[in-house]
Amino acid sequence: MSKQRIAFVGCGGIAEHYLRVYRDLEWVEVVTCIDADPDRAVNAAARLLESVKIKPRATTDFADALKADVDTVVINTPNHLHREQAVAALEAGKHVLLQKPVAATLADARVIAGVAAHAAQRGCISGLYLSYFDQPLMHDLRDMVRSGWFGDIAHLYARLMHRGGLILSRQVCQGQPNWRASATQTGGGCFIQLAVHYIHLFAWMMDASVVQVTAVIKNSYCPGIEGEDLACAIMEFNNGALATIDTAWCAAGEQLALQGTLGTAEYIGNQTLMLDSAAGSFNGRIINYTGTSAGSFPNAPGASVTQQMTTVHAPRLDDLSNPYNQHRLFLEAVREHRPAPVSIASGMEDMQVVAAVYESAKTNRAIRIE
Ligand SMILES: NC(=O)c1ccc[n+]([C@@H]2O[C@H](COP(=O)([O-])OP(=O)(O)OC[C@H]3O[C@@H](n4cnc5c(N)ncnc54)[C@H](O)[C@@H]3O)[C@@H](O)[C@H]2O)c1
Repeated sequence: MSKQRIAFVGCGGIAEHYLRVYRDLEWVEVVTCIDADPDRAVNAAARLLESVKIKPRATTDFADALKADVDTVVINTPNHLHREQAVAALEAGKHVLLQKPVAATLADARVIAGVAAHAAQRGCISGLYLSYFDQPLMHDLRDMVRSGWFGDIAHLYARLMHRGGLILSRQVCQGQPNWRASATQTGGGCFIQLAVHYIHLFAWMMDASVVQVTAVIKNSYCPGIEGEDLACAIMEFNNGALATIDTAWCAAGEQLALQGTLGTAEYIGNQTLMLDSAAGSFNGRIINYTGTSAGSFPNAPGASVTQQMTTVHAPRLDDLSNPYNQHRLFLEAVREHRPAPVSIASGMEDMQVVAAVYESAKTNRAIRIE
């Protein structure tokens, strides 16, 4: 069988974390590494050479991704370039895997989703890369939601914060520009960059969509960054559940919680998972909750529902032994002419929520999403 030939576009920070997938899958061959920074393109090509006989081309010219010897274009560039590059690749008949968020603006995301839908009719597979989908834990939580382990979901919470903005801001103030500091190039600040993961996961876990958002955003500690360094958003889903997503670039901490009428899951610091439910046991991919029901529903505050605590680590993004490794799943989808694990259309819906959050923060009112 012939190899799937890849153009790897954008060989920067995140791409480094999964380049090895493209090196180690024997039925895949990267034919070109493209980056605006020639050294990065050359370095990525050199890393791939460890396992292939033919050295990938290394270039700064995006047009190389559209050549006839490329089947699939993997786009890992800054958000504002996604539209131009994804549309060009899809229109050239390539399969496309695109980093999150779909684009810097909702308008661009709509254009990409439209072109992707059109290209799908010609057999082009396109997908969005959302790193949290690599985590078996997220797939277990989704099954727990669907199986009723939580009862009815009342509230979801996500906090995704790091202090990278403080460093970035200092660098920008010292004269080192970065696309992340530009509101135009990112589409905002910490919220668009970080929250899209959980907006998507919450909707996917519950098979529900956001209908209204209220948000406050501000920039207090990162003068070198145009967008916000802190954002708090409250959203209502069409199944009645409420969710809060808090993001920051000026403070650190990560937490995920799902709270239902029967059970609770809290995942703290990407490490500690605490579970309790009156619904009984759950056996999943990595979750093995053996707790027995206290018997009565609804269980009264303080009632003895078995609480279980375990340690769960996220897999590396280049771990090919992980059955949820999205790069491999996407490449397999192309090979087998199946839909991608995460569609660009669903990522476009996330962007509707992001746009509503920014609109709410700007106008100081709740925004409905049709
Ligand atoms: N968890 C995640 O899945 C995750 C994490 C980080 C970043 N991302 C996304 O990945 C994308 C890239 O982020 P990053 O952190 O790697 O940024 P980065 O700045 O570290 O890397 C971007 C690379 O793109 C290159 N580039 C810039 N303009 C280009 C052009 N016109 N053609 C080709 N290459 C060009 C840059 O030189 C750089 O090497 C963004 O969309 C970001 O949102 C996703």
